[in-house]
Amino acid sequence: AILVGRRVKSRRKWNRVVGVLRELEEGCSTSIGRLRQVVDAMAVEMHAGLASEGGSKLKMLLTFVDNLPNGNEKGTYYALDLGGTNFRVLRVQLGGKNSLILGHEVERQPIPEHLMTSTSEDLFDFIASTLEKFVEKEGNGYIVPLDRRRELGFTFSFPVKQTSVSSGILIKWTKGFSIEDMVGKDVAECLQQAISRRGLDMRVVALVNDTVGTLALGHYHDEDTVAAVIIGTGTNACYVERTDAIIKSQGLLTKSGGMVVNMEWGNFWSTHLPRTSYDTDLDADSPNPNDQGFEKMISGMYLGDIVRRVMLRMAEESDIFGDATCRLSEPFILRTPLMAAIHEDESPDLREVSRILQETLELTNVPLKVRKVIVRVCDIVTRRAARLAAAGIVGILKKIGRDGSGGVMSVRTKTGEPSSRMRRTVVAIEGGLYASYSMFREYLSEAVAEILGEEVAPYVVLKILEDGSGIGAALLAASHSSSSVGSVT
Ligand code: GLC
Repeated sequence: AILVGRRVKSRRKWNRVVGVLRELEEGCSTSIGRLRQVVDAMAVEMHAGLASEGGSKLKMLLTFVDNLPNGNEKGTYYALDLGGTNFRVLRVQLGGKNSLILGHEVERQPIPEHLMTSTSEDLFDFIASTLEKFVEKEGNGYIVPLDRRRELGFTFSFPVKQTSVSSGILIKWTKGFSIEDMVGKDVAECLQQAISRRGLDMRVVALVNDTVGTLALGHYHDEDTVAAVIIGTGTNACYVERTDAIIKSQGLLTKSGGMVVNMEWGNFWSTHLPRTSYDTDLDADSPNPNDQGFEKMISGMYLGDIVRRVMLRMAEESDIFGDATCRLSEPFILRTPLMAAIHEDESPDLREVSRILQETLELTNVPLKVRKVIVRVCDIVTRRAARLAAAGIVGILKKIGRDGSGGVMSVRTKTGEPSSRMRRTVVAIEGGLYASYSMFREYLSEAVAEILGEEVAPYVVLKILEDGSGIGAALLAASHSSSSVGSVT
């Protein structure tokens, strides 16, 4: 009788775990209907953000980049890339003509955590000293501008109100950075001053968001590239907009008639987003509640922690992890790369899952069926993230008339040749999460194709770029260089 009683009890507990899972599944549902609502909401918010300052949670920031690199850029340029988990310094040698990058070197460094919350001077002194060491290693193979200062593109991946292509003011921090004295300051100037403090003779000629750098590199290689998306620690997108559609800055004129707009889509919000109690709790516990709602459902900084929260709930509802629930209550203990490794464990007995549970969460002897549940949780959370990002991308395409809603069939020639009205459209994508999480990539491209439909999907190409944000900043430095060598337009 005792044994039966135990069995009944344990079955009841197991049922509760299954209940948590079912509830999660429902809460994270991204049916095609819902995705279409998100697409529409994104396009509507884009309009609102372009119509007036503060008109939407989407800031739709001007970048003053009105011409993307065209392949003629020439010379050696530097770039700094700050804003993710890693900080990068780059040296890029451009050959001029035919989009030729003769060579590039990258040095990556994790940002010491204390610098993310210290003072702007500390942060920029660290950056400038890393830059100085990097410049000293400049080899002979480079076409170094002896007659002029070295020039630098600065990728700064936070919301910045640009005042020109090479200056702009930090609006707020995201992604766990918080250096209060920086908010409201000119970011390029802070860097320029730190460079001068070190006695380095270098000039910051371009200040860009990582999305904009990625778009620049994407366009350099493929002129059909009209938008760029970052899915890494944070998430965001930019695209080329017609200046006459940027109502909030009436009279804005550019030679090309267009300008790159940094959407800051991480802050997108819509009631159509499938939000669960885990998201609400994560937001409430974050240093920036009510901010970056889209980002908190999609990007690498947060996905692992959503999974951790679900596991913690399961542990509270049952004893599937025994008594060892303490590490599960540590925020951010389960990093997203580990979550990806759990999700993508292909061994039949989920050996990798066991190892991670033990090493990271100190959970030992977790039975196979429980490990399977955890894999399922990762799948649900990642699938939702990827499908929402996909809806965001299609939202942009819709806004610029590249989603095929004008009709493809009707304008195809009899032989089925692609028509001139439905043009090939390339979206450049970068970011650690996207680059290293193949299930995420699969879910994303599957969802883009699903929303667009089989007629339109073949015209839309998602292209993964590596180091695009940094190399792109060097390209933009070249095309905005003070010397005529850089910008042959
Ligand atoms: C955050 C930043 C944004 C950046 C994105 C990706 O959302 O606010 O500027 O582009 O992360 O790094």
